[in-house]
Amino acid sequence: MNEPVDMRTISVKVNGVEHRRTAPVRMLLSDFLRHELRLTGTHVGCEHGVCGACTVLVDGRSARACLMLAVQSDGCEILTIEGIANADGTLHPLQDAFQRHHALQCGFCTPGMLTTLMELLADNPSPTEEDVKITISGNLCRCTGYAGIVKAALDAAAVLRGEKAPEI
Ligand code: FES
Ligand code: FES
Repeated sequence: MNEPVDMRTISVKVNGVEHRRTAPVRMLLSDFLRHELRLTGTHVGCEHGVCGACTVLVDGRSARACLMLAVQSDGCEILTIEGIANADGTLHPLQDAFQRHHALQCGFCTPGMLTTLMELLADNPSPTEEDVKITISGNLCRCTGYAGIVKAALDAAAVLRGEKAPEI
């Protein structure tokens, strides 16, 4: 049977799990993740690409889920905040560093901060403070003052390089 013209069936791998769903062609990726897949860790703030709260990795690249249609992710691999922790359930070094450096308060921006920084650390294992600041310049946080976030990112980079976490 043909699909209604305003619906499409898409296949996406999200956090390692394959999903095949039929979605309205106008549905945002952020709504698809939150309402269809129940992955509510991807937050929605501005819904027009400014705040960065909805950032996810699509085929390894950061993307604003509020600026993508779900149908555009057909055939893609997506990583959301729910997929960042290690397979054994322990925190990813970035999550652990955020906790130790008090890099989150209300936590609204945190999923987008973490996914954005995951991309940075994959591209550049030894970022400078300036690199981190430039990377998160598109992610708005109303609580932390950013200092803890920058320290956490540099700390996590050191841990991922196999170095001892710097003293706080
Ligand atoms: S909700 Fe997507 S950038 Fe703000
Ligand atoms: S921790 Fe509250 S907005 Fe960033």
